[in-house]
Amino acid sequence: MEYISHSLAETESIAQSLAEHLKDGDTLALYGDMGAGKTAFVRGLIKHLIPECLRLVHSPTFALVNEYKGESRAVYHFDFYRLKDDDDLYSIAFFDYFDRGGIIVTEWSELFDDLLPKDKKTVRIEKLNESERRIYADFGD
Ligand SMILES: Nc1ncnc2c1ncn2[C@@H]1O[C@H](COP(=O)(O)OP(=O)(O)OP(=O)(O)O)[C@@H](O)[C@H]1O
Ligand SMILES: [Mg+2]
Repeated sequence: MEYISHSLAETESIAQSLAEHLKDGDTLALYGDMGAGKTAFVRGLIKHLIPECLRLVHSPTFALVNEYKGESRAVYHFDFYRLKDDDDLYSIAFFDYFDRGGIIVTEWSELFDDLLPKDKKTVRIEKLNESERRIYADFGD
């Protein structure tokens, strides 16, 4: 599926509608350069999945992971940007999150693509100009 977004709000609303197709246990890998709109996309997802956590959504660049927990669902939002190698991924216990049954979303997925689940869903965001983005979503169905 391919979309063209003309604004931040449109990227959020595209994410909001794609969020309907995410279920517990899914991994969603986000790809795209700095400022592409990955964190914006996560805001849209959370708007749909756990709206009460919307105010908590920000780039987890320093925290490495943000956890959004609603009454019946959880989303674990990772940002790999500052991680250097596989050891770093183990030291933040990334793989333990797969046993928790929530939805895992990763920014800067290109850095550890080989270590992500084979059946992951993917979203690639390409910056066309200041305000436009091309968004390719592969949800495998
Ligand atoms: N169509 C658009 N979709 C998303 N963001 C847009 C769009 N047009 C402009 N922007 C701007 O681009 C920026 C996207 O920032 P965001 O933090 O979501 O990017 P990111 O991919 O998470 O970057 P980083 O790699 O630094 O984490 C925001 O400043 C936003 O206002
Ligand atoms: Mg970000």
